[in-house]
Amino acid sequence: MKVLHIDSSILGDASVSRQLSQAIVKQLQAGNSTAEVQYLDLAQQEIPHLTADILMGQNAEQSALGEKLIQQYLDADVVVVGAAMYNFGLSSALKAWIDRIAVAGKTFKYTENGAVGLAGDKKVYIASSRGGVYGDNSPADFQEGLLKTVFGFTGVTDIQVVRAEGVNMGDELKSKALSDALAQVQAI
Ligand SMILES: Cc1cc2nc3c(=O)[nH]c(=O)nc-3n(C[C@H](O)[C@H](O)[C@H](O)COP(=O)(O)O)c2cc1C
Repeated sequence: MKVLHIDSSILGDASVSRQLSQAIVKQLQAGNSTAEVQYLDLAQQEIPHLTADILMGQNAEQSALGEKLIQQYLDADVVVVGAAMYNFGLSSALKAWIDRIAVAGKTFKYTENGAVGLAGDKKVYIASSRGGVYGDNSPADFQEGLLKTVFGFTGVTDIQVVRAEGVNMGDELKSKALSDALAQVQAI
């Protein structure tokens, strides 16, 4: 089983989403001794934003990086993505990764009947952390919603969110949010 583990929070050891994504990966490893984990820390190894020359294939170094990221995504049986909510959306580092892997002809294609995902045969875990409380399907959620849409667009139907929210609303709420989320991880 190939696991792609992605973190994107800028907060290092203080990050809640990193704690959750790490717990999910540990749980997967405990259940599968042959799990092979590739780790992308997008806050440490920034992927340059998509530019016209990269899009047009005129930057050999960045084209090679894009191909590598796409292949890594396609090859993964499981993707675990740590996603902090920043300004209702994702970190720009995670968005930069999305811009490299959501590529027509590689992870989806357009047909007469619309777009078809080409990367569907995998499970995605979203380790989500939010300062406030939004619940499911909030109109202010451009974080989990965007991730679900993008992964869904590439064909993934098996998406599980492990969420700790309200983490900036006091120590009590933070520790309950975290322990509830970690209990969800134990059930994986
Ligand atoms: C730049 C920035 C923007 C944020 N924007 C929001 C927001 O729009 N809504 C919210 O509920 N929390 C927001 N927060 C709080 C984070 O979602 C919260 O601290 C979360 O735990 C971050 O994930 P992390 O602990 O993995 O870094 C923001 C935090 C930062 C640093």
